[in-house]
This record gives sequence, structure tokens and C-alpha cells, in this order.
Amino acid sequence: MARKSKKPGPQVSGPGIKGIRGGRFKAGPADVMREINASIDFDRHLHAQDIAGSKAHAAMLAKTGIISQEDGDAIIKGLDSIAEEIESGDFEFSQALEDIHMNVESRLGDLIGAAAGRLHTARSRNDQVATDLRLWVRDALDRLDAEIQGLQAALIGRAEEHAADVMPGLTHLQGAQPVTLGHHLLAYVEMLGRDRSRAQDCRRRLNECPLGSAALAGTSFPIDREKTASALGFDKPMANSMDGVSDRDFALEYLGLAAILAVHLSRLAEEIVLWCSGPFSYARMPDAFSTGSSMMPQKRNPDAAELVRAKAGGVIGALGALLVVMKGLPLAYGKDLQEDKVPVFETAETLSLSLAVMAGMVSGMEFDTGRMKADAGGGFSTATDLADWLVRELDMPFRDAHRVTGRLVGLAEEKGLSLDGLSLNDMQSVEKGITEAVFGVLGVDNSVTSRDSFGGTAPERVRQAVSAARKRFLT
Ligand code: ARG
Repeated sequence: MARKSKKPGPQVSGPGIKGIRGGRFKAGPADVMREINASIDFDRHLHAQDIAGSKAHAAMLAKTGIISQEDGDAIIKGLDSIAEEIESGDFEFSQALEDIHMNVESRLGDLIGAAAGRLHTARSRNDQVATDLRLWVRDALDRLDAEIQGLQAALIGRAEEHAADVMPGLTHLQGAQPVTLGHHLLAYVEMLGRDRSRAQDCRRRLNECPLGSAALAGTSFPIDREKTASALGFDKPMANSMDGVSDRDFALEYLGLAAILAVHLSRLAEEIVLWCSGPFSYARMPDAFSTGSSMMPQKRNPDAAELVRAKAGGVIGALGALLVVMKGLPLAYGKDLQEDKVPVFETAETLSLSLAVMAGMVSGMEFDTGRMKADAGGGFSTATDLADWLVRELDMPFRDAHRVTGRLVGLAEEKGLSLDGLSLNDMQSVEKGITEAVFGVLGVDNSVTSRDSFGGTAPERVRQAVSAARKRFLT
């Protein structure tokens, strides 16, 4: 049975500056030891989660009678003041205290004295940090979902505007078939939708609480893990204490979905770079997202898109880095796990910035729809329409139609004409059955309008897809 509420304990010294070395060691650490060991320079980002975790733990310790209610209250009050100090920038972080956990605990000792030393009952920094990082990644996933949605909203808006504007659709970066710009932009909306759903899956799976795993084996104190788990918004406590302190698969999943998202962003960024380039000239970047050259006065460079394209490298690298940290790491905790944080923090920052910049560029870009349309008819891009016409009107098997069309393309190329530049006589010299009606399918507008299968590029389909996307992603 849990012991009933206790009196405040004897006045022993608080955790103080000696922290965890006080009892065991005679000499202090070497400077370089301190430097490699300390994580405070980066894990200070966990301050809000660390304090929330400690408050939940203290409340549970008091409720179960493991510490007195008075000590519990003093601890919680002290933690609240520390949160304020950190928020307002008044908190002095110390490298000598290694990490955020010891920094907070030491300051708690300054503020409330001996009771501070009871906070770490039935807890280890191992379960503490695993809890903090899960909470942090959970928040990052929620932010990410909203940030991706912002980019989706920008893309959907532009897609609606350009639902019927024709551009070259490419395969192998060669003209393939005309498509609509709206359709092209909506392709990214779909990719981003799957990125969001991966983030939601990751959040669901990570939402179990490691707190109470203690160092690795659990604890002999009568803790209530359900209580701390629910106080922190977790669905339940993690089932195995060794797993709880030692796995970081949630962080790997986060970095994995981040890497896929970064790859999607880099593809769009690359297209923006191409569209804004002189040879394409399909789009113009607004001033707010352009840079000049120090030497060439005419330049208007899409640096932001290039940087988003390049930053995918760092995000993919972060996933690689943590995978390699985890690989072959024996159970349970190893200090290697301290190296999980920087890749996660940096990734979140990179993605936030990249998504905001992409949304800004997409919203502000001006498209040269005339130029796009002019290019859309090049490269015999309606050859498939011609072949389909032969199938439909002359009942030709598609393979024969493909061969006939190939010959017509060859003829047009020889004569330096486009397909609709060939005369009916030219056409009939290759296939007698062709009639005047064929010219009706050789224009780019007709080509896109005819591709009205579900998921196709026809303007009407794009308009439907825009309103479906609004319902699926923006409500
Ligand atoms: N700063 C440490 C980390 O990030 C906290 C856990 C320390 N645990 C330990 N057994 N040394 O992982």
C-alpha cells in the first residue's frame, strides 16, 4: 500500500552545483569531458516538456504518498517559477550541470531547499529524457501538420486559378502530353496529404509514456504510471521499462517522414527553379522571394527554392545520423542516446522554415500561361490524342494506331511541321482512312479537355479535385 501523506522530510542539502557527482567522485571532470558530456546547449529546448514531466511526476508522488503533499506542492510551485524564469530569459543555464534535467533540479534546490531533493524519487534521467523527447516530438508533429496544411492551402488556391491553363506535361523531362497547371500543382497537394497522414500515424504510435520506467528496470516505489501518463496527455504508459528508456523509434519515424516530406519539397523547389529559369520562363518569382547577383545586374535568382532543394540533404542526413546512432546499441540506456536530439531539433527548424518559404513562393509566383501554352503543343505532344482517335474512329488496335502515328510524327518532323500542320493529303499518304475530323483532336485545349477520367487533367476534373481537396485537407 502507498504510504499516506508524509511530513516534509529532514533538511538535507538540495541537489546543488555538485549535482550527481557529489557523492561518488573526488575530482571534477576534465574540461573536455565536461564539454563532450554536457547537452545543455541543445537540450534546453526541452525545458517546457521537462518541467511538465516533473510536475506530473511530483503530483503523482504526492498523490500516492511517496512524498508529502506539502513537498509535492512546494516542488510544483518551484517548477512553475522556473518555467517563468526560462520563458523570460532570466534563467542561467550551467554547463557544469550537464543537461536540462540537472539545471532545473538544481535551480529547484535554490528556490525551495531540501524538498527539491525528493523530486527524483522513483525516477531516472533515462525515463525523464525519453518522456521529454516524446512530448517534444508530439508538439513538433502537431506544428508540422498545420505548416504542411498552409502549403496545401497555397497550392490549392493556385490550382483553382489555373484549372484550365495548359502547360507541357513532361516525362524524362521531355514534352509528353499537355496537362493543366492546376493538375500539376494538385499532385503536390496529394503528396503533402500523405506526409500529413504519416505524421498523424507517427503521433498515434508515439503517444505512450515512458515515465516510471526509471533507470531501466522499473521501481520499488508504488508509483501510478497511469496517472502520470494521462496527466501528460499520453494514451497509456509504455508496457516495458527497458523499451521505454532505450528506444527512439518514434524519433526515427519522425525523421523518416520528415525526410520524405523534404524530398517532396525539393521536387517542387526544383520545378520552381526550372520554371523561373530563362529557357523555361514559365514563372516569375515575386521580389520578396528573389535575390540579385553581386555582379550580373540582370539576375533575379530563385535562391529560396534552391535552398529548400538543398536543405533536403540535411534532413535526410539527420535520419541517417540517428539510424546509425541506434544501430547495434545494446539495451538499455547508453549515452549515445543523448545524440538523438540535435537531428530532431534541426529537422523541425528546417521543415518549418522550408514550408513557410514554399507557401510564400507558391502564393506569390506569377505564371506566364501564354508561354506555357505555346510550349504545350511542341514536341508532338498530341500524338497520343491522334493514336486514340485512330482507335476510336477507325477501330484500329492501339498497337497499330501507335505505329501509324509514329510514321506521321516522322513525316511531320521531316517537313519541319507540327502534327496539325500536316495536310489531310499528308495524313492519308500514311493512313487512307483518316478524315478532316482528326484535326479536332490535335489542339492542346482539346487534348486536356478530353482527359476527363477520374484523376485526370481535364479542367472540369481539376475543378472537382480542388473542391474535394478543400474538404479533405483544409477543413
Ligand atoms: N542528457 C541525457 C540524455 O540526453 C539525459 C540522460 C542521462 N542519463 C544517464 N544515465 N547518464 O540522454
